[in-house]
Amino acid sequence: MIVVTGATGNVGRELVSILAAAGEQVTAVSRQPAQFAEGVRHSQADLNDPTSLRSALEGADALFLLVAGDDPHGILKEAADVKRVVLLSSQGAGTRPEVYRHPALFERAVRESGLDFTILRPGGFDSNAYAWAESVRTRRTAAAPFGDVGLPTIDPADIAAVAAAVLRESGHSGRTYELTGPALVTPRERAAALGAALGEPVRFVEQTREEARAQMLQVMPEPVVEGTLAILGEPTAAEQSVSPDVQRVLGRAPRTFADWAARNLPAFR
Ligand SMILES: NC(=O)c1ccc[n+]([C@@H]2O[C@H](COP(=O)([O-])OP(=O)(O)OC[C@H]3O[C@@H](n4cnc5c(N)ncnc54)[C@H](OP(=O)(O)O)[C@@H]3O)[C@@H](O)[C@H]2O)c1
Repeated sequence: MIVVTGATGNVGRELVSILAAAGEQVTAVSRQPAQFAEGVRHSQADLNDPTSLRSALEGADALFLLVAGDDPHGILKEAADVKRVVLLSSQGAGTRPEVYRHPALFERAVRESGLDFTILRPGGFDSNAYAWAESVRTRRTAAAPFGDVGLPTIDPADIAAVAAAVLRESGHSGRTYELTGPALVTPRERAAALGAALGEPVRFVEQTREEARAQMLQVMPEPVVEGTLAILGEPTAAEQSVSPDVQRVLGRAPRTFADWAARNLPAFR
């Protein structure tokens, strides 16, 4: 049985359905109640309270772990009987560990746990474009800072596909995979791709760094806002490089932002 935390998220929901379709027994974990396909067990638990995972983890062979809460050691203690743990970390744990301290802390705990582990380090998600859903629906506009700085954002469905492979196959033990999309795409190009998928232009509005900062502070702690702005505005060479790891694990190229937009149009119509 495979336990998937973050099971109602962009990555987790897709991962649960890939695993269930492959015939795996799945326990889907989130804090809020949720519905899944028949045969998928749902367990309500909070990663902030590791003991709340106990019933989800009973009889589990593998754990897909999200970075949430402050006690990775407590979580891994509860998971001591699983054979494999796959951690959804973040590219920032490698490129800016002083800012992305939580993912770095979880990575260290997983490495030191003695369990068979694989770490996934995705860059920015294509699904971050959901932040534009309302303005695209109502005004056909999309606002972001650093309109012409490209990053190789990744489709969360590709992260889920890699996670499913790594959870089910052997040969990934001890590996850290950097997960990116197939090419650099700028915010301006992402807005244009959404417009092309909709069949109507989407106007790109370039925000100042301060405007973007004020907006991000509503949903993220200050150090993470600064780190994210640095990645969006002055990415390092590592943050702009296209990784071969999706192709290596899946035997196919990662999907484009245009592909993500076409599959997720209802949110923007
Ligand atoms: N977006 C990016 O660009 C990016 C880049 C790199 C890494 N990441 C990482 O990827 C992770 C997954 O992203 P996503 O887009 O799939 O997530 P998401 O859509 O925001 O969903 C988060 C999921 O985690 C669950 N959850 C949140 N806090 C929890 C807790 N304390 N205990 C148990 N469950 C909890 C949520 O359900 P409930 O609310 O019901 O608990 C939901 O199922 C993020 O958490 C982030 O660390 C994201």
